[in-house]
Amino acid sequence: MISYQDGIFHLRGETVSMVLKVDRWGLLELLHFGEAVADGDAEAFRFRPGLGWGSSVLLDDTDTESCPDALGLAWSGPGRGDYRESPLELGGEAVDLRYESHTVSDGIVPTGTSLVQAHGEGESLTVTLSQPGAKLQLIFTLFGDVICRRTVLENTGDRPLTVTKLMSSLLDLQGSFLMTTFDGGWIREREKHTVPVGPGRIVNESTTGASSNRHATGVLLSETDTTEDHGRVYGFDLIWSGNHHTAAQQSLQGLTRVVQGVSPAGFALTLEPGAKLRTPEAVMTFSTEGFGGLSAILHRFVSDHIIPAQWRRKERPVLFNSWEGCMFDFDHRRLVGLAKDAKDLGCELFVLDDGWFGQRNDDTAGLGDYTVNKKKLPHGLKGLGEKINSLGMSFGLWFEPESVNMDSDLYRAHPDWALTDGFQPLLGRHQLLLDLTKPEVRDYIVENVSAILDSAPISYVKWDMNRHSVALGVKAYDHILGLYEVLARIFGPRPQILLETCASGGDRSDLGMLCFGPQVWCSDNTDPICRQTIQGSLSYLYPQSTFGAHVSAAPHAQTLRSTPLCTRGYVSFFGCLGYELDLKHLLGIEKDEIRAQIGLYKQYRQVFQFGQFRRLDNGWQVSGDGITIAACFRGLVEAAPGYERLRLKGLDPQKRYRFHTVPRKLRIGQFGSLVKHVAPVDLDPNGLILRTADRHITLPDGEQAFTASGAALMAGIRLLPLFRGTGYHKDQRTLTDFGAELYIIEEDQT
Ligand code: GLA
Repeated sequence: MISYQDGIFHLRGETVSMVLKVDRWGLLELLHFGEAVADGDAEAFRFRPGLGWGSSVLLDDTDTESCPDALGLAWSGPGRGDYRESPLELGGEAVDLRYESHTVSDGIVPTGTSLVQAHGEGESLTVTLSQPGAKLQLIFTLFGDVICRRTVLENTGDRPLTVTKLMSSLLDLQGSFLMTTFDGGWIREREKHTVPVGPGRIVNESTTGASSNRHATGVLLSETDTTEDHGRVYGFDLIWSGNHHTAAQQSLQGLTRVVQGVSPAGFALTLEPGAKLRTPEAVMTFSTEGFGGLSAILHRFVSDHIIPAQWRRKERPVLFNSWEGCMFDFDHRRLVGLAKDAKDLGCELFVLDDGWFGQRNDDTAGLGDYTVNKKKLPHGLKGLGEKINSLGMSFGLWFEPESVNMDSDLYRAHPDWALTDGFQPLLGRHQLLLDLTKPEVRDYIVENVSAILDSAPISYVKWDMNRHSVALGVKAYDHILGLYEVLARIFGPRPQILLETCASGGDRSDLGMLCFGPQVWCSDNTDPICRQTIQGSLSYLYPQSTFGAHVSAAPHAQTLRSTPLCTRGYVSFFGCLGYELDLKHLLGIEKDEIRAQIGLYKQYRQVFQFGQFRRLDNGWQVSGDGITIAACFRGLVEAAPGYERLRLKGLDPQKRYRFHTVPRKLRIGQFGSLVKHVAPVDLDPNGLILRTADRHITLPDGEQAFTASGAALMAGIRLLPLFRGTGYHKDQRTLTDFGAELYIIEEDQT
């Protein structure tokens, strides 16, 4: 609901309110953003400035309430008495935008050229501010408990305006906060960092051309005592895939200014008379129920308003991807052999990754070309796709359309299509980016990718991008608009294709890309221990259905860490499950385990993919349709471990539930030299007999099954004892380093 009365706007969701006031100087004040309040509460939040503000300046020298520097605002500008960060810069000129008019409308206000935005039913408020020669629309759209915000600047004068910064949102929040950001790099995406916001400005920013693996677009602002389940926390994000900037800074008056938008780094645009500049949408919400409560609101928002409508709650196939198993070394026969094995294990979609086109035998050549490599694929993509379909699997294909290798037919024909900065070209992964601000480049990509998609039975696309950009400022901004146009032109007419976007893993996992494809490949790192961080961090802002999660080989290619197969499986269950390893060398017992994993995942796929995700003290849980599934993850094993509890969340305390362990198999080899104590003869733990036994014999690990009330399960049930140096026992849990367990809890209908 959006209401307006006597200069007060109230945007009210179920649990969240934003109260804005047009004050008597025409500034837009932020009276409140947080807990839902009533219409008519504005007076309670009024700024009362007291006796004066020392050296600060006043808009009206006779009125101490007119000090812009001391007010909590929802917009501001440079040079007119507000000395905090400005959301707008016009080449160093003073800006004095004041309220002119407003409209409240049903639905969303469409964004202009190729800017993606949240969709579905909503309600919008547009506040127009103006000054001689410029008009600024502040557009707020309310989707349940989430507010999206953006701005449109129009040059209404008769001389060009130089725009060096235009942000999507500014809010002055009352209070002291900790700011959590998600930072990293390739194969180390989304490490969580939390710092106090004080008088020095903290900036979470990307300048690589993409939303980046360095600093994700989403940030949290929490109060110091906020925990996973209790306390006040704000969530902020951007529907944008390029350079971004979110800053927070606390003023002397205890107001924390939060500014979100496109990074102003290197930004300088000439806005001609009559022209408009539009920003991407900023996303914001709030919860009193801790980080978990905030995530629940954001997950709902992403599922209902960001991902393409046709993929909402639509089950995603279990996929097999050729990359980690084959890299560039494959041909039709090898792929068909892999597909048969993958099908036998239960996979439903076979994805051919990099290497199918041009002279692409390693990563130094071929990008930009679309001729199928007939040496590797003599029957073409059509022949391969149809063969895979005949095995009962669907077929998917990798593309990297935004890039070009210098060793490619495309570069030889159009060297000027590459994005350069006038200096010697800088290569990243031996490639350049194409200049998507050029219409002929966009047309080339659209025509070629579309032709390939229409030439073979392709139902899934992995859209990759593997280097940072050299584009700065406006060029980087226009590049992303070009990308959005290309994606819309290719996938708009082909809504049946499941699009998973990727950028060296998680270099562009953001709400902008999720507007086109419902899932992202969030990291090239599939080590399940690293994935607990990466997927765990993503879960603060995005639901688990938005990330692909694959089981790969152990020792792991990026960390050389060995982890149990069940851990690799269980971590991947909390996402869109896939397998990405050479299947040829798997043991029979490993294949059996994978078959069981995929069977279980399919049985509970709705819950795994679309159930409500919650972070637990020692793992994750998903719940939906009366079923809760919880995984516990562990690090290094301790000697003489104590009792352990599993504390579930979100159950009905009154109801009874059936609790049971998902059976786990132990390998003989994990008992090492202990085996000789139970064997009738003295066996060498490294000898042939035990090595052979390890490949064929498994023991069941301890299982628990009982019924209990939701109250007991949420209080924390006691798990079976852990191995404590006494040998195998079927009523204990024998977990090795980095082990994992899975439990299923179903409502007891009896
Ligand atoms: C990137 C992707 C990988 C894989 C390779 C192929 O690194 O993130 O998943 O597709 O490219 O070259």
